Amino acid sequence: MYTTLLSTIEQVLNANPSVTDGLNEVCQKIQQTLPAYHWVGFYFHHNTKKELHLKAYAGKPTTHTVIPFGKGICGQVALSNQNFIVDDVREQDNYIACSLDVKSEIVVPLFMDGLNIGQIDIDSNTAHAFSKADEVFLVRVNTLVAAFLKRNNSTF
Ligand code: SME
Repeated sequence: MYTTLLSTIEQVLNANPSVTDGLNEVCQKIQQTLPAYHWVGFYFHHNTKKELHLKAYAGKPTTHTVIPFGKGICGQVALSNQNFIVDDVREQDNYIACSLDVKSEIVVPLFMDGLNIGQIDIDSNTAHAFSKADEVFLVRVNTLVAAFLKRNNSTF
């Protein structure tokens, strides 16, 4: 499943000239293919402010389109540069609820030339939805996206 999906993502990014359209399509493909992935989005670091900005997503719209560094799971990953799996969001004090349906979350930073420039964020309505395999998959997605952004001279 992950291998086929990675090929599809590569095809989407190779075919798509617009950065925003490409990323939105990647979010849609992932969300439609993996049943536990209810919300899929890409946040990117603002050029000057210590904030994450939502640039593409699939799933329910969220009001959390701007997240300060340090706030929530996403904001913590902006500072730690580490993958973050949350098995049960109720156990997290520093958590921003996008929807009361969400039970677990995974955030994986996106690096370009060694710099953390953004992240992919997945929410699931099932607790304990994410494992090491998801982490490995999402690291590979981010590697493809970083190459795509580089080809398009974009860091968002
Ligand atoms: N739950 C995230 C906020 C983003 S939403 O999941 C879309 C967090 O705690 O940072």
